[in-house]
Amino acid sequence: MRVSIIGTGYVGLTTGVCLGFLGHKVTCIDSDQNKIALLRAGKTPIYEPFLTELMAEARPNLSFCGEYAGSLQDAEVVFIAVGTPPSADGSPDLRYLSEAARGIGQHFEGDFLVVVNKSTVPIGSGNWVGSLVRESYEQQHGRKANGHFSVASNPEFLREGTALHDSLFPDRVVIGSDNNRALQVLYSLYRPILDQTFAAPTYLARPEGVGAVPLISTDLASAELIKYAANAFLATKISYINEIGQLAEKVGADISQVAKGIGLDARIGTRFLQAGIGWGGSCFGKDTAALVATAREYSLSMPIVEAAREINRRQRERVVEKLLAELKILKGRTIGLLGLAFKPNTDDLREAPAIDIARKLIERGCKVKVHDPVAMDRFEREYPDLSVVCCESPEEVADEADALALITEWQDYRELDWEVMASRMRSPLVLDGRNALDRARLERFGFRYLGIAG
Ligand code: UDX
Repeated sequence: MRVSIIGTGYVGLTTGVCLGFLGHKVTCIDSDQNKIALLRAGKTPIYEPFLTELMAEARPNLSFCGEYAGSLQDAEVVFIAVGTPPSADGSPDLRYLSEAARGIGQHFEGDFLVVVNKSTVPIGSGNWVGSLVRESYEQQHGRKANGHFSVASNPEFLREGTALHDSLFPDRVVIGSDNNRALQVLYSLYRPILDQTFAAPTYLARPEGVGAVPLISTDLASAELIKYAANAFLATKISYINEIGQLAEKVGADISQVAKGIGLDARIGTRFLQAGIGWGGSCFGKDTAALVATAREYSLSMPIVEAAREINRRQRERVVEKLLAELKILKGRTIGLLGLAFKPNTDDLREAPAIDIARKLIERGCKVKVHDPVAMDRFEREYPDLSVVCCESPEEVADEADALALITEWQDYRELDWEVMASRMRSPLVLDGRNALDRARLERFGFRYLGIAG
């Protein structure tokens, strides 16, 4: 099928590369000409494991374009995968979404186009996008748009760092539309994934036991709500274990064991029960805020989701409080942060706990040193005003530090020579913000070890 994708961020690029790999003819559109130049040169503007490799395999089916003209006039499906960043009041900024909708209306010249919202959009946006597309089509072409467009919602559930795996072997595919023809087009598009009939690349082997993928085909509003409800649930699950973690700490219980003990109950499940400094990233914070904001428009409160947000906010403060309790005075101390990305295997810094924590420590008069295995360049570009010392290695972070805080549980950090780390520090104190390090081993090397819970 002929597919166009507007936006080459994590979602758009991953979707485009996967659909191209599956044999569809895909045009990726982005207004950022630098990104387009990079992509044409076979490079990716984001760090995502195996994306470059899969993009190379899909290359014969992929093209990259810096403008709408010439890139979607005869498409059968267009995905809108532009950013919907949070605005000051927590509601998503829909500027790029509306630009994309208008661009589609102006440049489509074929018979029938399915316009798919892949961006996480507020509930009800499908209808809004539809009206913008039709309006700009009618203005541009001077004829009625009736019957030419149908809007669908196809939320993504991919996690950064495992985006390709999550896209090729999803737990489910959700498609929402009030138009049967649009649903049929999307079934055909996703057929190879639904039936798992494609040959998986060697570096992205099909996990054992993956058979046909369940399809939820539903109305627009339900598909839009599924996305928010899923993310809010996962965020709440993490905040729940972090709340239990606080009590575990008081009563002397081990939160990892508690999480395992409850997670093995199949009704609860073991995933997303890793206690620590909590969630960051582009989705959980934004989507929980948007859900609360939407509910408010209907005079509803969402106390569970709000509590999950509050607990997450407090987890970051707890890092500073714990260091203060241990070091007594923070002013003039050197604190090293290991990890900047909001989680391992990505260079994404959106809502990364490290940024918040660095700011709080600086406010308290600390000297803050930072390191990340992949996000350093991006950090220096995006946060030039944050006055921290950027280090080239974790060992450099340890030099003369009064404490280290593990913020992102990169495998590299688990495997560090912690004996050497201890020897370079002023005092070997580590705050394991992800409960990811081997406490007994670190204590053998003379570390005073603090977990974030338990
Ligand atoms: C999330 C959703 O998982 C995905 O389905 C959605 O489409 C986009 O948002 P992502 O933000 O990429 O994906 O990362 P995810 O792996 O979900 O982690 C989010 C945050 O939660 C990270 O900061 C991570 O460190 C934290 N987390 C995750 C925990 O603190 N504990 C856990 O047990 C799991």
